[in-house]
Amino acid sequence: MANCQLNLFLSIYFFVVLADFQIHVAISKPQVPCYFIFGDSLFDSGNNNQLVSTVKSDYPPYGTDFPQGVTGRFTNGRTIADIIGELLGFKEYIPSYATVTDQHISQGVNYASGGSGIREETGSHMGGRISLDKQLLNHHSIVSRLFHLQQNTTFTREHLSKCIYIVNIGSNDYINNYLKPKIYTTSHMYTTNQYAKILVRQYSRQLKGLYDLGGRKIAVFGLGLIGCSPAEISIFGTEGRPCVKSINDAVRLFNNKLKPVVDELNAYNSDAKFTFINVTSISTQQGGKVLTNVPSCILRADGQCAQTTLTSPVRTISMYYDGYHPTEVSNIHTAKLSYNSTSRMDASPYDISHLVRL
Ligand SMILES: *[C@@H]1O[C@H](CO)[C@@H](O)[C@H](O)[C@H]1NC(C)=O
Ligand SMILES: *[C@@H]1O[C@H](CO)[C@@H](O)[C@H](O)[C@H]1NC(C)=O
Ligand SMILES: *[C@@H]1O[C@H](CO)[C@@H](O)[C@H](O)[C@H]1NC(C)=O
Repeated sequence: MANCQLNLFLSIYFFVVLADFQIHVAISKPQVPCYFIFGDSLFDSGNNNQLVSTVKSDYPPYGTDFPQGVTGRFTNGRTIADIIGELLGFKEYIPSYATVTDQHISQGVNYASGGSGIREETGSHMGGRISLDKQLLNHHSIVSRLFHLQQNTTFTREHLSKCIYIVNIGSNDYINNYLKPKIYTTSHMYTTNQYAKILVRQYSRQLKGLYDLGGRKIAVFGLGLIGCSPAEISIFGTEGRPCVKSINDAVRLFNNKLKPVVDELNAYNSDAKFTFINVTSISTQQGGKVLTNVPSCILRADGQCAQTTLTSPVRTISMYYDGYHPTEVSNIHTAKLSYNSTSRMDASPYDISHLVRL
């Protein structure tokens, strides 16, 4: 008898919890109707899986901590773009351009591709990749599709203006272009300062292109400290310093020119809000939790993980999963502070939670 009452109690309790959960699900909507993602392997969620390229992560140990396992993400778990999506209230990850169907395009698309850059030739020695210009062409075709499906130009324009757009690109224009002088000519043609200038000029036009396709809330990620990545350290050496100083100096020139371009885009397009995310500032404030920069897997010669089903506990205490890409713990930190910054240096003029409300 007592047992029976307990059962009844449990099933009522369970029912209430379930009902509560359903109400919660029914009323919780993302803070913005849509979210579009552009970039390189830091944001890629599977666009390279079908390409002929050495820049692929469709094998273990990538995805070890991701609910769906191996997906083509270049880390053990979620990317920065995934975590920002969760913070925005999206219940599902934004589908990759390679797999998205008409049914889902109004909520956003992930165009990011490993190995790609601002410049068209960047990464070409590794095979197929979708450059930022090609990503914008893909976005153009998605936007046209959306106008066609929604059959109301005013509505579609308004819809696109409410979306959050994030862009993270430029690392490969250094790693897989300027810093490979035997394969690419850029370092023979330009000083680091000239190179930063032409890269940022091209990037500025591309960001304006995103605006022309209806984007009005755009977060632009600066480059991280590429000279501190295990792969670049092993190629160039550090002369006793913790990182490759010349690389970090070159990247700083890029970031220092990019931020004023973001301010300029805001000044010239008063109906849009662009913001600059300072990944360096974010990575240097880890709130007492200092991560090492030892890779969490056995590296191939090109700095990616060698295939294995074994996983290492290092991934919970290191900034790097392979020779170049951050671990999920590192991504959580970056995503949280770009969404809700603690210092004015992290995101300016707005963090992403602020961008949502503008
Ligand atoms: C088109 O969308 C606008 C904005 O949402 C709305 O006000 C208008 O009623 C729509 N027009 C039609 C014909 O549905
Ligand atoms: C990014 O943050 C770092 C560290 O706070 C700072 O030194 C640097 O000037 C910032 N970069 C830009 C472009 O604002
Ligand atoms: C940002 O973080 C602070 C605490 O660090 C919190 O009080 C605030 O609610 C957060 N804001 C948003 C928009 O999440």
